[in-house]
Amino acid sequence: MEIIHISAECYPVAKVGGLGDVVGALPKYQNKLGHIAKVVMPAYETRFMRENEFEVVYDGWGKLGFQDFTVRIFREKTNKLGFDLFLVHIANFTDRPQVYGYADDTERFLAFQIAVLDWIAQWQHLPDVVHCHDHHTGLIPFMMSNCIRYRKLSAVPTVLTIHNAQYQGQFGWDKLHYIPSFDTWKSGLLEWNGAINPLAAAIKCAWRISTVSPSYLDEISFKANGLENLLAQERGKSAGILNGIDNEVWDPSKDQMLTKNYSIKTVDNGKKANKEALCSVFNLDSTKPLFAFIGRLVGEKGADLLPDIFYNTLHQAHGAISVLVLGSGDPQVEGRLAALKEVFPGHYNAYIGYNEQLSHQIYAAADFLLMPSRVEPCGLNQLYALRYGTIPIVRRIGGLKDTVVDIGDGGFGICHDQTSIWDVEHAMGRAVHFYHDKKLIKDIRKIMMQIDHSWDKAAQEYIDLYQI
Ligand code: ADP
Ligand code: GLC
Repeated sequence: MEIIHISAECYPVAKVGGLGDVVGALPKYQNKLGHIAKVVMPAYETRFMRENEFEVVYDGWGKLGFQDFTVRIFREKTNKLGFDLFLVHIANFTDRPQVYGYADDTERFLAFQIAVLDWIAQWQHLPDVVHCHDHHTGLIPFMMSNCIRYRKLSAVPTVLTIHNAQYQGQFGWDKLHYIPSFDTWKSGLLEWNGAINPLAAAIKCAWRISTVSPSYLDEISFKANGLENLLAQERGKSAGILNGIDNEVWDPSKDQMLTKNYSIKTVDNGKKANKEALCSVFNLDSTKPLFAFIGRLVGEKGADLLPDIFYNTLHQAHGAISVLVLGSGDPQVEGRLAALKEVFPGHYNAYIGYNEQLSHQIYAAADFLLMPSRVEPCGLNQLYALRYGTIPIVRRIGGLKDTVVDIGDGGFGICHDQTSIWDVEHAMGRAVHFYHDKKLIKDIRKIMMQIDHSWDKAAQEYIDLYQI
C-alpha cells in the first residue's frame, strides 16, 4: 500500500512531544513491512532544514480566502529517516522556528493542508490512504470528500489518528472562506459547538479513526473536551492502537547521547555510571533514589501538582531522595519548579526548557520516572523508561493503564489511581521502600527491559485498519 502521513511534527525534523516520535517512526516500520509510507509536514526553520540536502519536487501557489501564497515542496534526498520525507514551504507561514504557538496558527495549518491537497491532486497515481494526525491536519478528510477542487481525491480513504482530543483547533465561522468551496449544505460537517472544529470535522469525515491506546478509546466517550457524544457515535469506525517506540533511536546499548551504554546484562552498572554523571552535573546525591519528571508542564500531565509534591517529599525525606525535572510549559509551574532549586540545593534540580539529549540521559540515569497525568492518550515516556530500566510511577489512565502493571500485582511499575498530591506522595514512598530491596530492583529492571514495545506489531495493526 502507499500511505501518506500528514503531520505537524516528525522527529528528528521537528518535535514538540510524542506526536513527533510517532510520525518519525511508524512510517519506517510500515516500510519494513513492505509498504510505501511517506511523510508530508511543514518546512519549519529548524536545524534539520539547514543541515540536510533536499530537492524541489513541486512549485506552486495556493489560496487562503482572498490571500495567495507561494508553495515549494522539498524532498529529503537521502531517505535517511527510512521513509520519503516531504517538507512544504509556504512563505510567511511555515518558515518560522517554532511548530506551534503563533497567533495565526489557524491560517498556517490551513494553508499547509490546502497546499498538500493541491499537490496530491496533481499526482498521476493516487495514494491508497491518507493518514492524518491530530487537528492540524483535521480538515483534510473534509476537504478531500467535499471540496469541488479536490473531487479527484474523494475516493481516497482517509484515516485520522487522535493523539490528543484535548486540542481541537477550533476557529470562528468568519474564517469559513479560507476553505476551498464546497456545497454549503455540508457545512454541518465542520461544526461543533458553534465553531469550525477541525478535530470534530475529521472525526465525522475520516473513513477510519484511531486513538493511540485502547483505554483512551474507552475514555474519550466520557472525557474528550466536549467531543464525547460525537466520539461515542463514531465508535463503530474507531480502533485503539497502542503506540510503539523506535527501538533504533531508544536503545540504551547504542544510544550515543548516554555517558555509558548498557544492556539487560549490564544494566545495574550502566545505570549507576549514567546516574553518577548526571548527578554530578546537576549537583545531586547519586547514592539516593533519583526521581525524575520529563514532559510538558501542563495540567494534563499533572504538572501543577509537582511543586507541592516535591516540596513535601523533599521536606519529609531529610535528604534521602534526589529529584530532577526536565520540562517547559505553564510559566507559573515553571517558576515554582525553578524556585525549589534554592530550597533544596543538592537534592533537587530542574532544567526548564526542551533538551532531547538530556531527556535520554535522564531515562538512563533515573531510578523512577513520575507520570501523574490527568489525561494520557498513550504516553511514550513510560515506554522509554521501561526500555532504559527505569521504574515508571504512573496514574492508571489511558495508555499508562495499558502499559504499566504494578509491582504489587506481579508487575514492574508503581501505579496510583488519582492525580492527587496524596496519591503521588504515597507512590513515591512505596518507591523508596522498593529501592532499598536491591534484588527486587535488579529483577524488575530485567523484566522491564525485556518487554517488547517496538513498532512492528502496531505498524501491522494500522495496515489492517486501512483495509477499508
Ligand atoms: P506528549 O506528547 O503528550 O507530550 P508523550 O509521552 O507521548 O507526551 O511524549 C513526550 C515526548 O516528548 C517524549 O519523547 C519525551 O521524552 C519528550 N519530551 C517532553 N518534554 C521534553 C523536554 N522538555 N525535553 C526533551 N524532551 C521532552
Ligand atoms: C499526545 C498524547 C500522548 C501520546 C502522544 C503520541 O501528545 O498526549 O499521550 O503518547 O500524543 O501519540
